[in-house]
Amino acid sequence: MDNSGCRRRRQRVVLFPIPFQGHINPMLQLANILHSNGFSITILHTNFNSSYTSNYPHFTFRPILDNDPKVNNLSKLGSRGAGDILSGVVLLNQYGEESLRQELDQMLMASKQEQEPIVCLITDALWYFTQSVADTLKLPRIVLRTSSLLCFLVFASVPFLDDQGYFKQVNSLFDEEIIDSDLKNIILASDENNFKKAGSSKSVKDLEERVLEIPVLKVKDISKMKIKGQTDPSAKILANMVTQTKASSGIIWNSFKELEEPELEKIHKEFPIPSFLIGPFHKYFPASFSSLLKPDRSFMTWLDEQAPNSVLYISFGSASQMEKQDFMEVAHGLANSKQKFLWVMREGFVKGSEWIEELPDGFLDLVGERGRIVKWAPQQEVLAHRATGAFWTHSGWNSTLESICEGVPMICSPFWGDQPLNARFVSDVLKVGVYLENGWERGEIADTVRSVMVEEEREDIRERAMCLKEKVNVSLMKGGSSYESLGSLVGYISSL
Ligand code: UDX
Repeated sequence: MDNSGCRRRRQRVVLFPIPFQGHINPMLQLANILHSNGFSITILHTNFNSSYTSNYPHFTFRPILDNDPKVNNLSKLGSRGAGDILSGVVLLNQYGEESLRQELDQMLMASKQEQEPIVCLITDALWYFTQSVADTLKLPRIVLRTSSLLCFLVFASVPFLDDQGYFKQVNSLFDEEIIDSDLKNIILASDENNFKKAGSSKSVKDLEERVLEIPVLKVKDISKMKIKGQTDPSAKILANMVTQTKASSGIIWNSFKELEEPELEKIHKEFPIPSFLIGPFHKYFPASFSSLLKPDRSFMTWLDEQAPNSVLYISFGSASQMEKQDFMEVAHGLANSKQKFLWVMREGFVKGSEWIEELPDGFLDLVGERGRIVKWAPQQEVLAHRATGAFWTHSGWNSTLESICEGVPMICSPFWGDQPLNARFVSDVLKVGVYLENGWERGEIADTVRSVMVEEEREDIRERAMCLKEKVNVSLMKGGSSYESLGSLVGYISSL
């Protein structure tokens, strides 16, 4: 959609993504959407993870936080695992305020002389430090939330759920020692007094039980988020995110109304600020140019030769990492399923390994016969390919939406954070996927892969997935919910 038949004066919007793949993609897509609706775009970015900038000649990029010696710890972030994301978010929130204020101040002064006033700042919800900066500069801040509404509601309920005893005996990502100890101390030192100590006296819940207050979920979904309760360092990040989102001038969601209608009602009640559901963002433009890794396309000729719906696409996202023994179960399960596959395996995906050296003997012969392994793929293109029959995913929100948009059924194997919530939503609410919820076991993997790939067995899932794809298309057409919401967003930003 292009609403740029604009009679209005050109206005500039400043956007600030979190520098990790699952957050960069939707922010850059949003920037493109706003640009095509007549706004000029400035992207603030750290030099950490900024390789995509040359793909956007129509945007102005301004580096930020790069000269601050306190942020040197960023150089310790390397493998793009969960620890990197958490540490990066904390570090930049901790030290970013002064740099952002100076940068924005300069930009605002310059914009007064130009014909393009800066009308608002749009930041990732996890950039909670930006709200106070925006407030002091009297610049409206709109939040982009890159995951689902359901996930945001659950994150906002962590203290309540903790009081109800849902986090008893849960392991935290922090217990897995994936986070550098200096960074851990910084996180633990921050806001120490603002958080209650965990103190639930409630008994341990049965993991298979439904969560009374959020019946979509089972207790084990909450435990799989790997947050230990309200005193967990990740919970501190989430609490700050929720508070500062409430203080913002509005929320943009990469979702659409028909997908999360009950959740939208709750959001309206609990967050009485304007909400805009304009997603799925990636449908507005044919390809994503914000990849941090170079997509391998060498398998495309092979994929073109495969029968419709015959290939299982496997990718566990940009940040998950797997234990060696689980990796062996995946490889054996896949081999035993006898199905064709395209498997994205990032370097460093298997803990303690460079790449695929841990594969069982004989697996590479199998790859020649009926599969391909790549380090990174053009995912949206693969999902749209007629040969792709199902997507075995870690249930990151971008991957989930990309699969929904192409009507591709999912097998869900979440790792942490919002992923277990997305997996439950896909399998139990949307019913367009199967949740491998008992962990990594080769027999169950082989059976599940076979049942989802062999059409007669799971025809129901495939039909529902196609139906949902149709709903997405309708929401983006003139008169559809996302189309209308985008119109409202454009009007809202113009009026600021
Ligand atoms: C992280 C969290 O894991 C996720 O739960 C949260 O919703 C966002 O941040 P990530 O692991 O990056 O996300 O997963 P996801 O949200 O699915 O995003 C991955 C992106 O990388 C997708 O846009 C996907 O198309 C892209 N991708 C993935 C590729 O382009 N090529 C690949 O080979 C794999």
